[in-house]
Amino acid sequence: MSKLIAPSILAADFANLQRDVEMLNNSDADWFHVDIMDGVFVPNISFGMPVLKAISKHAKKVIDVHLMIVDPDRYIDIFSKLGATNLTVHYEACTHLHRTIQAIKAAGMKAGVALNPHTPVSSLEDIIKDLDLVCLMSVNPGFGGQSFITNTYKKIKQLKQLIDTSNSPCKIEIDGGVTDQNADELIKAGADILVAGSFVFKSNNPTQTISNLKQIVTKRS
Ligand code: DX5
Ligand code: ZN
Repeated sequence: MSKLIAPSILAADFANLQRDVEMLNNSDADWFHVDIMDGVFVPNISFGMPVLKAISKHAKKVIDVHLMIVDPDRYIDIFSKLGATNLTVHYEACTHLHRTIQAIKAAGMKAGVALNPHTPVSSLEDIIKDLDLVCLMSVNPGFGGQSFITNTYKKIKQLKQLIDTSNSPCKIEIDGGVTDQNADELIKAGADILVAGSFVFKSNNPTQTISNLKQIVTKRS
């Protein structure tokens, strides 16, 4: 699989959301990364179903939904109906993770699990074969614009090894503090998908910034 760039809508201009969605449609972006926060699992509230519905109406690419919420099982079917292609839940928020993953797949979506910076990769040993995606948080979830945690490189390598030894089809996504300064190193370590919020949307030319990131990751592919 070629390496992918997933701009995070969290850093978009919500008063011009359609404009920013069209910008991503017409850019080298591969996925739309959509962060849903409930103010309980993380100390911030982002947006919910009506905004996802509005994004889906215009988005022409994969919609990668990252749930930072407690008890995600309650909303799996609705996220599927609202157009999510991938649904990622947090390891730390799921008591019955295996059941949750099966329910996501049964609803027709790709299933992902996100790990907080402190959660070891080895926690996924017994579920890795069932996963389509692991999202390694390279910041503490809840906010855009934070600094990248360098321990992530070690976790990428550990995860890559776990995936390879288990013959799992799972892909590795990195979320938080991604820039043109760490993109190459992340791909080199084994990442497949890079999420980038502030670095893309706070730049002078987001379309160009996405192209530059895509070029960096393609060189390593
Ligand atoms: C953080 C979110 C990220 C965030 C990334 O909780 O999961 O997706 O939008 O933003 P940046 O790229 O600004 O760190
Ligand atoms: Zn995210």
